[in-house]
Amino acid sequence: MTRRSAVPPPVTAVLDASSRWLPARLGEVEDGLRGAIAEHGAVLGEDAAATLAAGGKRLRPMLVLLCAGEAGGEAAIRAATAIELIHMATLVHDDVLDEAPLRRGHPTVAATSGRARAEAAGDLLFSRAFGLLAAGGDSRSVALLADAAVALARGELAQRHDAFDLEIGEARYLQRCRLKTARLFECACLLGRDDPHLRTFGAEVGLAFQLLDDVLDVTGPPERTGKASGTDLLDGTVTLPLIEAAASDPGIREVDLHGLDAAAAEALCERIAATGALERVRSRALEMVAAGKRELEAADFEPEQRQLLGLVADGVVQRYS
Ligand code: FPP
Ligand code: MG
Repeated sequence: MTRRSAVPPPVTAVLDASSRWLPARLGEVEDGLRGAIAEHGAVLGEDAAATLAAGGKRLRPMLVLLCAGEAGGEAAIRAATAIELIHMATLVHDDVLDEAPLRRGHPTVAATSGRARAEAAGDLLFSRAFGLLAAGGDSRSVALLADAAVALARGELAQRHDAFDLEIGEARYLQRCRLKTARLFECACLLGRDDPHLRTFGAEVGLAFQLLDDVLDVTGPPERTGKASGTDLLDGTVTLPLIEAAASDPGIREVDLHGLDAAAAEALCERIAATGALERVRSRALEMVAAGKRELEAADFEPEQRQLLGLVADGVVQRYS
């Protein structure tokens, strides 16, 4: 059984609406995650276990399982576990790059164990994902996940390249988000079922997820989001809330992001919020979710599958962590 306390709302809404099979399979994914990181030495095990214990919404495994449907079986559970391992790996590495102190309400591996150990823990999680998929003998899934991991790396690199550049516009930002986030959501859906409607659904929902994530970075607070706020500004990441805010308050473009300390970042967050940019970005995310849900109408699904996927899509924008 899934530990309900580890699954934050609104994901609980999906579990509450589902029949028995989904929570049971998510429980198997949790077992698979624990099994995947066991027996790789005490140090790596400790860091990987801390990452796992911090929990998470398990949105990507949920998408795999729901797209595969009740008939999905063992292959879907394996793919759902593998994609969460990749997601965990990217967050451990991302927290090294961002020097982030907090993730999911817990100190990051980088903060507790240092950069080298965090890199190794991320590598372990990454490698175990592919080991698990390869053991299932499904080369299509291995290829899908490998392509998504390449996209993640390209997205992260593009973000570093664009850092501190206030001339970055919306198109470039969206392109980065597609690579950094949406491709993994898209991959989750395709791991569940090869269907062009699900590819588009995953891409739209993934993009919406990143937009909301960038709103939450401005609004915080850490007690609710589980991570430090204002980190995007502090590490020079220009996101849509900032781009939107600068369009109505051009003085924002004159701010030197290099010189920001925590207090200045907080003040800039307030200035962004004052422009109404957060509501505009939230509306964009809602439009993306609506576009994704239209794709669901065109796909051949059991009614429960469509309803639950719709709830996952809604949950991506109705969240505080
Ligand atoms: C979190 O986003 C980070 C990502 C979505 C991608 C991170 C990708 C890498 C570190 C490179 C690829 C790594 C592997 C293992 C393939 P965010 O920084 O916008 O959100 P946050 O506020 O939660 O940190
Ligand atoms: Mg980050």
